[in-house]
Amino acid sequence: MSLEAIRYRRGSLTILDQLRLPHVSEYVTISDCRDAFSAIERMVVRGAPAIAIVAALALAVELSCSKIEYASGAKMADTICERLEYLVGSRPTAVNLSDAARKLSKVARDAAEAGEGPEQVKERYIVAAEKMLQDDVEDNRNIGDHGAKWILDNVNHGDLHMKPVSVLTHCNTGSLATAGYGTALGIIRSLHAMESLQHAYCTETRPYNQGSRLTAYELATDLPQGMATLITDSMAASLLGRYQLAAIIVGADRVAANGDTANKIGTFQLAIVAKYHGVKFVVAAPTTSIDMGTASGNDICIEQRPAHEVLMVTGPVVTTKPEGGLSVDVQSVATIAPGMAGRIGVYNPSFDVTPKDLIDAIVTEKGVMVKNENNEFELAQLFV
Ligand code: MRU
Repeated sequence: MSLEAIRYRRGSLTILDQLRLPHVSEYVTISDCRDAFSAIERMVVRGAPAIAIVAALALAVELSCSKIEYASGAKMADTICERLEYLVGSRPTAVNLSDAARKLSKVARDAAEAGEGPEQVKERYIVAAEKMLQDDVEDNRNIGDHGAKWILDNVNHGDLHMKPVSVLTHCNTGSLATAGYGTALGIIRSLHAMESLQHAYCTETRPYNQGSRLTAYELATDLPQGMATLITDSMAASLLGRYQLAAIIVGADRVAANGDTANKIGTFQLAIVAKYHGVKFVVAAPTTSIDMGTASGNDICIEQRPAHEVLMVTGPVVTTKPEGGLSVDVQSVATIAPGMAGRIGVYNPSFDVTPKDLIDAIVTEKGVMVKNENNEFELAQLFV
């Protein structure tokens, strides 16, 4: 059973509150673009593909429920483009959101320019947004299968011959971060479906614990008991020194044209660890995460998050109710001494950039890219 982050039907959108998971499973209603902006900014929903889909569907819901009458198709298209531009401002690093906004704006503009009226432009937008939700799951399944086969073909030799493989993943790239199945986690699911997964390790992922809160939850939910292990971010070098892993598999928030990859903070150090131990380092992402307009990692804007995300930890306080049964209250507690919050600086970038030299393969729904003899990824080939 996979967790369902996004529930949509025409005119209605609810999302699983990922700030309260795994302690509380609660869906929140997204009625319009303002709700979506706030949910994305606060990370109620997170993960590059999920952010883009929630933004697109939020506008679809807003338009479906709106009673405003527009004078022309062009006016409707203007409104759609303005709303999408607003949504793009919610989080800067993941490119999927701006990619979706660009494609959906074009759908609305093209319809208006073809002389369609406001209701038709609206309908075209809604259908295109709904298609993004459907396409994402299919893309993820393809990423999963391509990535699993590549890992087995490229590392299942020597003393690993024909044996199931163990892998490590970082952050959360599963059903919760996408429309379903997942990218890096999708590869783990596919390895398991092929009966080729021995063990999956996941990092807790500082600063916001998506690994222990979300990935550990997804792996524990989806894999047989005993097949998944959680480690802290600082244990990866030690783990790879002691256990034989086939690959470290991560997602991506933005892959630059040269292959440099922005992903959750800590990814870069995992790539260094993989190189040291001779373990394959695999990036799994849909082509919507590849930004051919960004030349290299130096040009990627890295989001800085608030200090309190590092200074506090959040978890459930479980108490027995007087009438019987348990009450679960999610609370935050400080990790530093009282009064220190203003005296200690906090560096809290949400993402880092892994240079292409440390990446062995970039897996997309279209297939697996490896570097050519000049040590270059030819990512433009994915868009011809
Ligand atoms: O800050 P987040 O939780 O949105 O960051 C998520 C990641 O870095 C994921 O690895 C990435 O978005 C890929 S999700 C399929």
